Amino acid sequence: MEFNEKIRDLAPSKSIVFMQKAKALQKEDPGIISLAGGEPDFTTPKRIRDEVTKQLEKGYTHYTIGPGLPELRERIAGKLREENGAEYDPYGVIVTPGGKFAIYLAVRSLVNPGDEVMFPEPGWVSYPSIVEASNACPVPVRLSGSDGFRLTRAKLEEKVSEKTRLLIVNYPNNPTGRVLSRPEAEELRAFLNAHPDVLLLSDEIYERILFEGAENVSPASYPDLRDRVITVNGFSKSVAMTGFRIGYLATTPEIAKVMYKLFQHTMSCTSGFIMKAALTALDCQEEIEEMRQEYERRRDAFIGALNEIPGVTAALPEGAFYAWVKFDMPGLDSEETAAFLLKEARVVGVPGNAYGTDETYVRFSFASSMEDLMESAKRIREAMEKR
Ligand SMILES: Cc1ncc(COP(=O)(O)O)c(C=O)c1O
Repeated sequence: MEFNEKIRDLAPSKSIVFMQKAKALQKEDPGIISLAGGEPDFTTPKRIRDEVTKQLEKGYTHYTIGPGLPELRERIAGKLREENGAEYDPYGVIVTPGGKFAIYLAVRSLVNPGDEVMFPEPGWVSYPSIVEASNACPVPVRLSGSDGFRLTRAKLEEKVSEKTRLLIVNYPNNPTGRVLSRPEAEELRAFLNAHPDVLLLSDEIYERILFEGAENVSPASYPDLRDRVITVNGFSKSVAMTGFRIGYLATTPEIAKVMYKLFQHTMSCTSGFIMKAALTALDCQEEIEEMRQEYERRRDAFIGALNEIPGVTAALPEGAFYAWVKFDMPGLDSEETAAFLLKEARVVGVPGNAYGTDETYVRFSFASSMEDLMESAKRIREAMEKR
């Protein structure tokens, strides 16, 4: 059977594979705790669910026309201006079924075969695959745990070439929990100003999950960069709407016009009643803040407990809901460490190599109940002590 070679050779998404594996294992042993998923454990706020019901009752269930409801694109542009300091024209906003599709749409529309797309690693599992599926070459920029995964201009300069078309950054970061600090944003800005042909895709999907004292800079807030920054965001993580499949990108109207051609031929439109729910979600500041506070409480307790275990270190994440945990396991790589934790502690995490690191990290999600988190820390401690 002949396939498109790039698609045939894509690696499966390891985070999805581990979520599925955990579900299957839990059927046999319900005591297994899965901290593998990248999904809020909260129920979607009631106001949002009520809005969907209302729209369904009204029969608002047909195609919508264009790159998103005009009132939603206006609201998104307003949100980006007020909350992120980024001036985007509503005509540059495309509402997509999930942030993931926004990233695919952007990459697919911008690169030609053989172009290079850079992204820092450790980084989200889907960037290299999306780049490959778009016939371009993924170019990882290796960041190191020894300096807290700091992004520097020098590291970017090492990997840039004449073929570089796009750089993707993601802050707050999955899996490290780092944010884009002002000095790092300045390094990024200096790099982009030195390479005027390189565009930036800023994936800010965890933007609302930001912990006390942390500031995350949106690169599009720099007026000198804005026209070259495609900002991607969505509702999955911040408002617990993963299953709604809704996200968006913002760019210039000229770039959006080209992206919309592909959108028309692949998606037609994003669901109307889901877009109405997204409008309601943009009003749910209180609910978002409540969830954020709960993530912060869990983060403090879980990271604190992990750091008390001999051979385990975890920096306090500044944003997102992941513990990026280093294990001192002589002779074992991250995949073997995750397998050890599954067998001996009955806790599922995603091995660090899924995110492109050789170091022995495992990612645990703290979008899980406090009870499960504390029980996991206890079991990991017992397993590590028994080694
Ligand atoms: C870094 C990052 N970007 C984008 C996404 C896509 O989110 P969604 O398609 O649900 O909006 C995810 C989800 O796991 C993510 O972790």
